[in-house]
Amino acid sequence: MSGMKHKIRDERLSDNGGRLLKWAEDHMPVLMSIKKRFGVEKPLDGIQIVACLHVTKETGVLVRTLMAGGARVALTASNPLSTQDEVAAALVNDGANVFAWKGQTKDEYYDCINKALTFNPQITMDDGADVVTKIHSDADMKYSIMGGTEETTTGVVRLKAMAAKGILKYPIIAVNNAETKWDFDNIYGTGQSTIDGILRATNTLIAGKKFVIAGYGHCGKGLANRARGMGAHVIVTEVDPMKALKAAMDGFEVMQMNEAAKVGDIFVTATGNKNVVTKEHTAVMKDGAVLANTGHFNVEIDVKRIIESARSRLQIRDYVEELTLESDKKVYLLADGRLINLAAAEGHPSEVMDMSFANQALAAEHIRHNAEMLKPIVYDVPKEIDAHIAKLKLETMGIKIDRMTEEQEEYVKGWSEGTE
Ligand SMILES: NC(=O)c1ccc[n+]([C@@H]2O[C@H](COP(=O)([O-])OP(=O)(O)OC[C@H]3O[C@@H](n4cnc5c(N)ncnc54)[C@H](O)[C@@H]3O)[C@@H](O)[C@H]2O)c1
Repeated sequence: MSGMKHKIRDERLSDNGGRLLKWAEDHMPVLMSIKKRFGVEKPLDGIQIVACLHVTKETGVLVRTLMAGGARVALTASNPLSTQDEVAAALVNDGANVFAWKGQTKDEYYDCINKALTFNPQITMDDGADVVTKIHSDADMKYSIMGGTEETTTGVVRLKAMAAKGILKYPIIAVNNAETKWDFDNIYGTGQSTIDGILRATNTLIAGKKFVIAGYGHCGKGLANRARGMGAHVIVTEVDPMKALKAAMDGFEVMQMNEAAKVGDIFVTATGNKNVVTKEHTAVMKDGAVLANTGHFNVEIDVKRIIESARSRLQIRDYVEELTLESDKKVYLLADGRLINLAAAEGHPSEVMDMSFANQALAAEHIRHNAEMLKPIVYDVPKEIDAHIAKLKLETMGIKIDRMTEEQEEYVKGWSEGTE
């Protein structure tokens, strides 16, 4: 072990962080019910978890839940700009080993992951697979890891690629792919918080703007609906015919990025892909166009080449860089092309992270109980866990639903009854 127990911005921020955590706890009833049970049953007793997640107040509630279950937690940030320093301080005060602060350099970001790994993980929790890939970059893996979890689409894509090549050395539960995660966090969480990030950074008017969204997957679809709700004219770009068709039939204009670039006012990438907005696109954009990314990595907008093509740069507000292009036109790049919702705002609302992090906590418990049986591949969250979380969430929302009668249960399983 390095001997270093934590590295954060300022421990004196812990009271403020405690208040933020309390707010999140009061809005995460499902995770809090799991925390209560974990406190009694201690399913993670003695387990060392190394987590690389956005250090937000909601992650704080997850960390407290894991610790209530008996785990020791070393936490590092999954993005150089996403840490809430108050939360990091409150978690250090709780006894977690946190290595994260807002505004890290790339080197500091990876150094923090290395420091967290000195705690010898038995379970890893990733958001983007940077910890798993770091662990796998060591020729002889020196940890005895029973399994890991992955929070986001991009991480799951990377891990499935590793599994397909036969190089993944321990089992992963794809928390992202649980219905109670992907169909809520990515759609409603990203939809709302991306708008929140753009507004906090720019205070721009959304109504009447041409709002271009690259990618009509979970995040893009959620964002398209939120932007439309605020009066934007939404344009979607896609590479998947099925998704493009869905966007068109949902009432959005669909076109190629080359065309969208000429007419858009606000551009947001949500693809999990790279170089989706390039300097060739910015060269034809309207004066004053705003560029933001909400996909996991800062590669969706080709920031480097776009900046190289600019005549001058000016940090005009927090998270807003004005780039004056050769043509004298200006484009505004938000948050260096990093996740806008976590850099300029607070990430997803607690209510939706309640389900995502309930999946994380129960997936960790599942790994602990089933470690012997799991192979080094990427697993879905077990259906029973997903269904259990949906049921708990509905209960906490005071929503009751119908149950099938015995007759109906038979009917939906049968084949013999047809037209009457
Ligand atoms: N900002 C956040 O807080 C947050 C939350 C969840 C997920 N994410 C990240 O957002 C990204 C998207 O996640 P998702 O769950 O929506 O994935 P998804 O797979 O559901 O959707 C991605 C879509 O992008 C499309 N696409 C790929 N390349 C494209 C290109 N060059 N041009 C246009 N479209 C293209 C795909 O066809 C697909 O429809 C991932 O990187 C994910 O990790 C971010």
